[in-house]
Amino acid sequence: MADDPARHALRVAPNPRGPFVSHASPKPLMSKRAERLSGRVTVPGDKSISHRSLMLGAISTGETRITGLLEGEDVINTARAVAALGCPVRKEGDTWIVLGRGVGGLSQPAGDLDFGNSGTGVRLMMGIIAGHDMRVRLVGDASLSRRPMGRILDPLTRMGVEVEGGARQLPLVLRGTSSLVPIEYRLPVASAQIKSAVLLAGLHALGRTTVIEPEATRDHTERMLRYFGGTVDVEETKDGRRITVTGVPELAGRTVAVPTDPSSAAFLAGAALIVPGSDITIAGVLVNETRIGFYTTLQEMGADVTFANPRDQGGEPVADIRVKASRLNGVRVPAARAPSMIDEYPVLACIAAYAQGDTRMEGLAELKVKESDRLAATATGLAVNGVKAAVDGDTLIVTGTGKVAGGGIVATHLDHRIAMAFLTLGLGAANPVTVDDTAMIATSFPQFRPLMEGLGAHFAEP
Ligand code: S3P
Repeated sequence: MADDPARHALRVAPNPRGPFVSHASPKPLMSKRAERLSGRVTVPGDKSISHRSLMLGAISTGETRITGLLEGEDVINTARAVAALGCPVRKEGDTWIVLGRGVGGLSQPAGDLDFGNSGTGVRLMMGIIAGHDMRVRLVGDASLSRRPMGRILDPLTRMGVEVEGGARQLPLVLRGTSSLVPIEYRLPVASAQIKSAVLLAGLHALGRTTVIEPEATRDHTERMLRYFGGTVDVEETKDGRRITVTGVPELAGRTVAVPTDPSSAAFLAGAALIVPGSDITIAGVLVNETRIGFYTTLQEMGADVTFANPRDQGGEPVADIRVKASRLNGVRVPAARAPSMIDEYPVLACIAAYAQGDTRMEGLAELKVKESDRLAATATGLAVNGVKAAVDGDTLIVTGTGKVAGGGIVATHLDHRIAMAFLTLGLGAANPVTVDDTAMIATSFPQFRPLMEGLGAHFAEP
């Protein structure tokens, strides 16, 4: 069928936020002590799986039909990039449809690819662009432009990619090649983004590409790749997991039902724990064991968190999570758990303020290079709200007393999770907690406010 670009709005639509635009108009918000949260809710689709479904759809042949896609700005930017690379993306009813071009079949985009705030979007897409004879300029917002890209460019360069001027941050120009060389690569940090970029590039290299991960990180790329018809071999060794993909597979478009995001659900779970009398159920949450370290930690703190109705959804395990307000105790969270809850530390730290005693969160070096330096932003945000928090190297120690004074204004640094974590903190505090901006919440969880309010939370413009 002839493909008329003009028919596909996503093919050309620019990112409304634009590169380097740090908020033209920040939207501060205040959260106030709530009475009791209750109800059954469904949170939006998992961000990691949403990005991957669009990208794997692009490098498969034929249509990939996706339901439950997270319609946050990060994922929409990935959809725009996929469209700009020659794979029309459209929405029919609740279903997003990507017309894939097969491995190595993408085409030169007409302009820059703008990934906005999304590290996952740009880093995974670099792995795909790597395998094509094309020159692509990649850009992002002020937060993304500060984040390290060398961790992706190092292995991709070994495979044959060139980076103009040797840039290590956005904006950068990548020159891919259709003759990528397969490599064996040991991850220098526990990062699913690095792992995924190398595996996606490996799909475009003749032969076998292996990634060795000393600590398990989220494995959605591996699971979905198999589901689309790829070969992924996983071997547990004393050095860690060896994950091998075989190059240039024929991937076929599939139907993907994206499970809901445990990282978004974490804010609701946290709110229910700290607001006395609360009892909520979050339906159909992804409970892949590489993602649920936060819930394990809550249980260790004494939280009444239970999983019901476990089931499989498109190769991923899901369950309903019930959370009741609980008396919590401080715990030590070991470094080995960090990859399975890396995005949940800001909200865990806020919950820990309501526990009795110290919560020691160890091995948090990676938190410093997220959408903001989350280690510093979390400690500072707690301190301005009267909570004792200390950073000792890569460890964050929060001293909980069961009570939070609140009354502070939290600097969010273009970071959606800092904003949501501190709005959650305010729901149990004596005085309102204000965050200086909430605009970035739309990158991952646009429904955050209405869903929280539906459970009984109170927010107000300051
Ligand atoms: C993600 C991996 C994590 C996580 C991010 C999503 C992914 O980053 O923080 O929100 O989808 O692969 P790292 O792999 O860099 O730790």
